[in-house]
Amino acid sequence: MNAHRIAAIPGDGIGKEVLPAAQRVLDEAASRHGFALSWCELPWGCAWYAEHGTMMPPDGIDRLGETDAIFLGAVGWPGVPDHVSLWGLLIPIRRAFNQYVNLRPARLLPGLASPLRECGRFDVAIVRENTEGEYSEVGGRFATPAGDVAVQESIFTRRGCERVLRYAFDLARARGGRLVSATKSNGLVHTMPFWDEVTAEVANGHPDVEWRRMHVDALAARFITHPEDLDVVVGSNLFGDILSDVAAAVSGSLGVAPSANLDPTGENPSMFEPVHGSAPDIAGRGVANPIAQIWCGAMMLEHLGHPAAAADVLAAIERVTAEPALHTRDLGGTASTEEATSAVIAALPAR
Ligand code: NAI
Ligand code: MG
Repeated sequence: MNAHRIAAIPGDGIGKEVLPAAQRVLDEAASRHGFALSWCELPWGCAWYAEHGTMMPPDGIDRLGETDAIFLGAVGWPGVPDHVSLWGLLIPIRRAFNQYVNLRPARLLPGLASPLRECGRFDVAIVRENTEGEYSEVGGRFATPAGDVAVQESIFTRRGCERVLRYAFDLARARGGRLVSATKSNGLVHTMPFWDEVTAEVANGHPDVEWRRMHVDALAARFITHPEDLDVVVGSNLFGDILSDVAAAVSGSLGVAPSANLDPTGENPSMFEPVHGSAPDIAGRGVANPIAQIWCGAMMLEHLGHPAAAADVLAAIERVTAEPALHTRDLGGTASTEEATSAVIAALPAR
């Protein structure tokens, strides 16, 4: 049997609850489709940090490099500053493996209510640049006679912009043929005009995609006022990060929002993790919504070349969300993580 080697990093908080839940679903879907997932369990995160002073061992990246994909829960826990946990695990993985696309689909699943009073069709794919941009280490803090100053530089390279924009335009071509690029060229006068220029160049190679640029503030408002207008939205690291949380909120809950960190060249393993964090406020109680993590798993199966198994997992998710009795608390229901997970497994189409 063909077994894929998958690194499983539950991380912290509800990551330790939703990751094993999703593993159960994926194992079941895989066995029905005649393949297997060989999990390599890695207990890295804030507990590891407390013991070793680092978020992962020094050979962590090398070990991950030997796998076919990385399945991650969430990292971050009170007591470890968030920038330490993020820059000690997630960001090194994204950068070492050139996962330059952060793909975050969001749609209104059957049975879920958007907090928007009027939300018709909502089905977007946010493509976020994942390796450079505003999230850079260049800068510092300075004491000046006028007071303390903090400086944070953004790095936009032509190669970095071009490759993520090309991915987004290709995706738009494969979906509804429409794309919006997030900009802010009125306020950020160096990086954003550059981003816009590269967008226009890439757009020239995609005459079949109808596209426009929008200032990110107006675009954020658009998600609320006319969510049905949007299809593929591409943005820099910071803009994509913020817009995808807005999109997750529109679709009902962070608990159903998946994301994939992709190296589209296939040279390195890609990483699949929910948009949400470790949710310390509900961790350890067995009430976290496992849907986001399970949907991430479906994206991973698709990436590993099993679209039929991925489609089955998505179909099972939709059957469960359609049933209010199976909703977890974040969706207004009373189901536990375990109940929702077992329901997804039970809803997998028979093979
Ligand atoms: P969060 O996403 O952990 O929680 C925000 C709110 O959403 C909380 O009220 C939480 O209970 C709820 N929530 C999130 N996921 C849920 C789920 N699956 N089911 C039900 N409710 C859910 O964001 P927060 O509180 O800002 O961050 C907590 C920690 O997580 C921090 O240490 C942060 O740095 C880290 N974090 C890690 C991320 C990652 O690993 N990629 C992403 C975001 C935050
Ligand atoms: Mg975010």
